Amino acid sequence: MMEKMAEKIIKEEVRVSRRGLLIGAGKVAAGAAVIAAGGLSLPPEAEARHPWPYKKLDVGKVARIAYENWYKDYCCYATASAILVPLQEEVGAPYTSFPVISTRWGHGGVVGWGTLCGTLTGIGIATGLIAGKDGEKILNDVIFWYTQTNLPIYTPGKPKTTIKNVSRSDSPLCHISVGRWMKKEGVQFFTPQRKERCARLSADVAVYAVNLLNAWADGKYVPLHGSQAKTHNRPAQNNCTDCHSG
Ligand code: HEC
Repeated sequence: MMEKMAEKIIKEEVRVSRRGLLIGAGKVAAGAAVIAAGGLSLPPEAEARHPWPYKKLDVGKVARIAYENWYKDYCCYATASAILVPLQEEVGAPYTSFPVISTRWGHGGVVGWGTLCGTLTGIGIATGLIAGKDGEKILNDVIFWYTQTNLPIYTPGKPKTTIKNVSRSDSPLCHISVGRWMKKEGVQFFTPQRKERCARLSADVAVYAVNLLNAWADGKYVPLHGSQAKTHNRPAQNNCTDCHSG
């Protein structure tokens, strides 16, 4: 008990010193006094311990949250919240310390720049918190699957609108992924159909990621794919001929 307290005080000292508020000898005692006086809070559990504890999630619930939350704040928030909100409810701290809405920026391939599909950014934020370096392997497998699968698959209980087509992106890029689907469906970006496609796809991506996380929690996760950078001797996507002729 006393040892733990001392450890926490020492950690607090490092923080205090970095801020340049308290430097010099007798730091521990001074720090302890400040803490005792309620002048500073101890470092939150969230900072002290990472990755965060994971509890296996129900994929049906995850899918519903992703779909509904796409319509609130788009793709990145949809997948991040589909995983992190149930963990806030079922695990509590440290997840409750994370403002999930802060992930909103990933929409449209990062604020509309058409780079990484926001659903994948959202998964990366969640898997990073939950599984650290293992989370990178899980994210790598999720991205691989995303590029190779005809999406969307998910059919919501109460769809906001109907859509006809599925498409395979061959790419993790928002621009290419959504572009291929829009071409097939014959619709523009700012249409109810395109919104519905992205909302359903958010559910698919969140479900796939949670299946991997649940297997990981059981000690049964084996990465399916290796490093893209090592495979291609540079960071790369696999759809080379979309951008290079031959
Ligand atoms: C999203 C589009 C895109 C994709 C997909 C893509 N590239 Fe490129 N790549 C580029 C662009 C743009 C350049 C810069 C070309 C230039 O300025 O001449 C480039 C440069 C390169 C270069 C020259 C620079 C270097 O690193 O030596 C090579 C080789 C290359 N890409 C190989 C690949 C291979 C192999 C793949 C598939 C594994 C691939 N690219 C996928 C767009 C892409």
